[in-house]
Amino acid sequence: MAETEETREEPEFETLRIADRKAPLGALIAISVVASVLGVVLGILIDWFPVAASTQARQVDTFYDVLIAASVPVFVGVTAIVLYSAYRFRMRPGEEDMDGPPIHGNTRLEVIWTTIPALVLLGLCSYAAVVLHDAEKAPAAAASELNVRVVGEQFAWTFFYPPAAQGGKEVASSQLYLPEGRSVHFKVQTKDVLHDFWIPAFRWKIDAVPGVTTDYRVTPIRLGNYPVVCAELCGLGHAVMRQTTHVIPQNEFAAWLDKKGGGGAGGGGGGSGDEGQAAAKPDGKQLFAANGCGGCHTLGAAGSSGTIGPNLDTALKGQDAAMIKEDIVNPNAEVTKGYGKDIMPPNFGQTLSPAEIDALVKYLQDGTKG
Ligand code: CUA
Repeated sequence: MAETEETREEPEFETLRIADRKAPLGALIAISVVASVLGVVLGILIDWFPVAASTQARQVDTFYDVLIAASVPVFVGVTAIVLYSAYRFRMRPGEEDMDGPPIHGNTRLEVIWTTIPALVLLGLCSYAAVVLHDAEKAPAAAASELNVRVVGEQFAWTFFYPPAAQGGKEVASSQLYLPEGRSVHFKVQTKDVLHDFWIPAFRWKIDAVPGVTTDYRVTPIRLGNYPVVCAELCGLGHAVMRQTTHVIPQNEFAAWLDKKGGGGAGGGGGGSGDEGQAAAKPDGKQLFAANGCGGCHTLGAAGSSGTIGPNLDTALKGQDAAMIKEDIVNPNAEVTKGYGKDIMPPNFGQTLSPAEIDALVKYLQDGTKG
């Protein structure tokens, strides 16, 4: 007992002689450089994102590559210093009571490790501001821009296009059609709760906030179909709040909008403006596919096997046209047992013309008869 107290009162204090330690500093620097180069090359080569379908997507992807090139060496450098220090200055047997050499600060080192990260951050922030400013810029010819009003609700997006004629009615669609190579200005709104309008292939996304109109621009540059996603948890049907963007050539887009808006006859007079569509009879099978019905519903006639909504082969069997129409236009009036309310998009009465709804009803009635 007495012996231990004695040793405690007079601990053996000796300073480690750091210079005695040998560590492979040169090898460590070499490994760090190789790891940094590998990390940067891999980070840039790996395809992290979906295909880039807008000019803004290209800018974002380039920005991401620059961030990778700037941050990988910093990460590798910090990790290397930590590992090196832990190895070189580790405690060895017999050194339990020893202390490291006293340190009185190093002004030059502190200036260096404050200045370099500050410059790196300042540079990246400035670059980010330039990219953002550039990506949000309005086109030189404002008239060439397409304005699309995007309205979210539980659980669907509705897209409104400007009327064909002054004072006309906006053209509503459940599918987002966009012309290739033209700047699009989205004005995003919501009828109920928070949603978030996101097209991953375009990279940009923005919240739809009750009572506020938010906006962003993209210029689609690649033909094809891309998902529209809701990126804000908004209720039970959040996961099925998905639609499709169709980027099509400008002349096809003009023709589509013309047809959707009622044959370009102004669209204002008749209220619904659907009379012009009598010439091209809507096809129920096509409508079922184009509106994504098969993603949620099983229907033998369409070869679809969705399970989010009721199986239409059984649910619609024996229903008359009026009942089927009510199911489409007013889905919450009567919900099939075992399925949740508010899951089926409530906006088909708005985005489909009466002729289209009739065609869809007929298709469903014929397809579920047998
Ligand atoms: Cu709307 Cu999530």
